[in-house]
Amino acid sequence: MKTLRQYIKEADEKGVAIGHFNISNLEALHGIYNAARKLNLPIIIGVSEGEEEFVGREEVVALVRAIRNRDNYPIFLNADHHYFFESVKAALDAGYDAAIIDAVMLPLEENIALTKKCVDYARELSKKENRDILIEAEIGFIGTSSKILDKMPEGVSEATMTSTEDAKHFVEATGIDLLAPSVGNVHGMVKGGNPRLHPERVKAIREAVGIPLVLHGGSGSMNEDFVACIKAGIDIVHINTEIRVAYRDAVKKALIENPDEVAPYKILKPAILAIETVVEARLKLFNNIK
Ligand code: 13P
Repeated sequence: MKTLRQYIKEADEKGVAIGHFNISNLEALHGIYNAARKLNLPIIIGVSEGEEEFVGREEVVALVRAIRNRDNYPIFLNADHHYFFESVKAALDAGYDAAIIDAVMLPLEENIALTKKCVDYARELSKKENRDILIEAEIGFIGTSSKILDKMPEGVSEATMTSTEDAKHFVEATGIDLLAPSVGNVHGMVKGGNPRLHPERVKAIREAVGIPLVLHGGSGSMNEDFVACIKAGIDIVHINTEIRVAYRDAVKKALIENPDEVAPYKILKPAILAIETVVEARLKLFNNIK
């Protein structure tokens, strides 16, 4: 099977993006995989530190690997937004394909030092275990929570977007494989509507850094903005809140409609279908499938 790095390169060449979807339970994994499989597209499953703590670090590796091996399918696992070297190391040691060291709240030079430490470790482990582990990092603040927001998170503004100069310096100093910039994107769904994305900034950063870019905070963004950003150099798009909302709404409806039902596999089946529907629509958009 091709490596995640190769799939990202292919997406870049084709002008499409790989979908990255977060899970915190088995229903979400099934819903996401069903959609990817239907469209025959590579897929990345993400777990943040909180999601990982809930699912289990080794458990989530086993789940994703079981699908990959059984179906010989390009499904990959990413340690999404890990804040410490120790948590990145633990995820990589457990068998994750990639990790994001999120040190965006630190001053730039401290972010660089911590990111570099993760890159060095990933290279060492890749060599030792004959793997090709990818390290991603983020610069420019885009908020922190995959939830419904009453208003824009404190500290996210035009001023906190990633500059081409910082991006270039950061990538050269750390040697990361993937960069997550701030280009108008925000984690979570803002009640009054998410801000517009800035494809021209994506293009300028992509040209300056020469490595694949990842768009975080995808939930709630406009379809035309996604398309423009993918065209401008985004190779992976992250979606989480939209899946959480689909799950919550489907479970709520199932419980109201069937108050006497106690079998989890019956209560939760509509949640799998709801997630599958969201993911399928997003994957079609990201891959220019009508
Ligand atoms: P959203 O919850 O806004 O889709 O962001 C997801 C994300 O970027 C996870 O890394």
